[in-house]
Amino acid sequence: MTRSVRAKAPAKVNLQLTVGPRSEDGYHPLVTIFQALDLWETVEATPRTDGEIALVVDVPAGSPVDATGVPTDASNLAWRAAELLAETYGIADGIDLRIVKSVPVAGGMAGGSADAAAALVACAEAWDLGVPRGELARLGARLGADVPFSLHGHTAVGLGRGDRLTPAMSHGHFHWVLATQAAGLSTPEVYGELDRRREAGEQLPSDMSVDADIMTALMAGDPVALGDSLINDLEQPAIALMPRLESVLDAADEAEACAAIVSGSGPTVAALARSRQHALAIAAHLRAAKVADAVLTASGPAGGTVLVQE
Ligand code: C5P
Repeated sequence: MTRSVRAKAPAKVNLQLTVGPRSEDGYHPLVTIFQALDLWETVEATPRTDGEIALVVDVPAGSPVDATGVPTDASNLAWRAAELLAETYGIADGIDLRIVKSVPVAGGMAGGSADAAAALVACAEAWDLGVPRGELARLGARLGADVPFSLHGHTAVGLGRGDRLTPAMSHGHFHWVLATQAAGLSTPEVYGELDRRREAGEQLPSDMSVDADIMTALMAGDPVALGDSLINDLEQPAIALMPRLESVLDAADEAEACAAIVSGSGPTVAALARSRQHALAIAAHLRAAKVADAVLTASGPAGGTVLVQE
């Protein structure tokens, strides 16, 4: 009988996202601090003997996530993860992949990277490859800059493209409210807008160092101090491309969030709460303000990508 294997991989928020000048390869050097959130993508992998890959995408019952725009062909990152693993290890078998999405699509929360991370772990197990984690992370970095962190989870500083990770200390749990938009933002366009703003003198270059206040707030488990320190160089470019985000940030302010920030390249806005109860209150306020298409709550840090036992 063919064995199905399931893996789950976390979404992330960037507590710091400091972006350097565009390099010749088109990428921007980053100094980022990631926190994994307990919003999980799951990928189920079932080997097939004909060498083909097939992929379906589902959302859990009752989930506000809209997965209609997610490709189910070879352009899907989970598909590419399976292909890369098969090529690297000379696997002739194929695989059926079923993605169950809980992370907003094209929202700046690394949902696609989580799909790739979960697919790498599930396929490696389904094909019984015994690949070390470090090797999966190296393969993952070729698929997308955020894939290694989704494998790693917890809290980490990311350098380079965000794929050179160092674990960071963090105490307790932080509670977040995530306000998503039905329309996504293109990550390359948001980086492009940052480049344009810097060339026009509208946005200053950043100090490329790890923010000590964020690290201290994490170690202290202090959401108020963390809220005071959040940094995202892509926030103003994302707002310039989607002005509606300003009203989401204002509504989070009205609900007395510790802080609200555009997540990664957006358009999801992440509001930091003092407690789980406070997160529920902020979520209710954001829903009533009708500034977002869906509002979710999550907490972090969550663990990295793991196999899910049936
Ligand atoms: O690696 P990933 O597929 O997530 O990146 C998508 C795009 O975002 C890249 O093609 C690039 O245009 C931009 N990017 C960047 N600098 C980074 C990460 C991403 O310019 N460090």
